[in-house]
Amino acid sequence: SSNIRLAVIPGDGIGIEVVTEGLKVLDAAGVKVETTQYDLGAKRYHATGETLPDPVLAELRGYDAILLGAVGDPSVPPGVLERDLLLKLRFQLDHYVNLRPVKLFPGVETPLGKVLPGDIDMVVVREGTEGPYAGAGGVLRKGTPQEIATQDSVNTAHGVERVVRYAFAKAASRERKQLTLVHKTNVLTFSGDLWQRTVNRVAEEFPQVATDYCHVDAASMFFVSQPQRFDVIVTDNLFGDIITDIGAAIAGGIGLAASGNINPDRTAPSMFEPVHGSAPDIAGQHKADPSATILSVAMLLDHLGFAEAAARVEQAVADDLVERQGAWVARKTREIGDDIAARVAG
Ligand code: NAD
Ligand code: IPM
Ligand code: MN
Repeated sequence: SSNIRLAVIPGDGIGIEVVTEGLKVLDAAGVKVETTQYDLGAKRYHATGETLPDPVLAELRGYDAILLGAVGDPSVPPGVLERDLLLKLRFQLDHYVNLRPVKLFPGVETPLGKVLPGDIDMVVVREGTEGPYAGAGGVLRKGTPQEIATQDSVNTAHGVERVVRYAFAKAASRERKQLTLVHKTNVLTFSGDLWQRTVNRVAEEFPQVATDYCHVDAASMFFVSQPQRFDVIVTDNLFGDIITDIGAAIAGGIGLAASGNINPDRTAPSMFEPVHGSAPDIAGQHKADPSATILSVAMLLDHLGFAEAAARVEQAVADDLVERQGAWVARKTREIGDDIAARVAG
């Protein structure tokens, strides 16, 4: 059939709350979807010790896409769910593009003050399978004053080239056609040099795209002082993680930041999730903004070829945000989801 076969991993904390609203909106979009829920996360880990069992991973490969809420819980040691569940999914499903739009919607308050929506409209193409996230590490003389901890960063010619190529194509498809490499070539001279040489080489295939370079520290500053500088950014896994939280903050908050972990070769399903985490500080209080997840659903629809439905979902979020500006009562997670779903259903 032409149904979307969707695997859903609500995960932990507010992940469960926001995914409920994301699915509500997906349902309202009128696209035929068949969903299967997976109980991966802290609860399953405590019950069985499992994070992402191999048979589950194998099963997940069979879906058209995955929708994920968030993982991580204060009761689980840091890294267990993040690495053995979330990163394992990104690595095993070869999500080498972590696509993170940073876009200010009309009517949304930004801490930057005097900026117009068009001033913040960029896409961060964050590498998703390498960098410090994939590097080996180790510790010597642990717990002593002589302790030495190392954590390598992996950058392969193949891995860098494929994400850079994707970023050039993305830039070529946009109005401004500008690509900025964000790195730290003045200190990370081995990996930085590989990234810069790769950008220079691939640039020859995209003469219509203007390229430039920005160190990650300066880029962090320009996100706040001059976000107009950026159109498409391509960057390393860790730098991309950090600057997209800054991006979320300048574009109205982490509750609005969407992402897609994309496998552009379609050898495995892509996975869509909000940029934010499980937010234990507000979990269970109905305070989480589900908009980031709903915008991630729009990215999912677009990825699967439902461009019209995707645009309708994004517009519904945009309309809801304009109206929210004038509202003086904070709305609950479910109310925001209901409002957006009603707009989508028209
Ligand atoms: P976080 O994104 O969960 O929360 C940071 C702050 O933003 C908190 O104050 C939180 O209340 C707020 N916030 C987050 N999402 C929100 C939303 N939708 N609406 C309103 N406010 C929101 O980051 P953290 O506190 O650093 O991490 C908490 C846990 O989540 C950790 O275990 C971390 O490893 C995990 N995490 C997971 C993901 C993921 O699954 N992709 C991403 C980031 C963090
Ligand atoms: C994100 C998160 C993850 C990351 C963590 C939870 C592994 O911060 O999706 O941005 O660092 O990629
Ligand atoms: Mn992050």
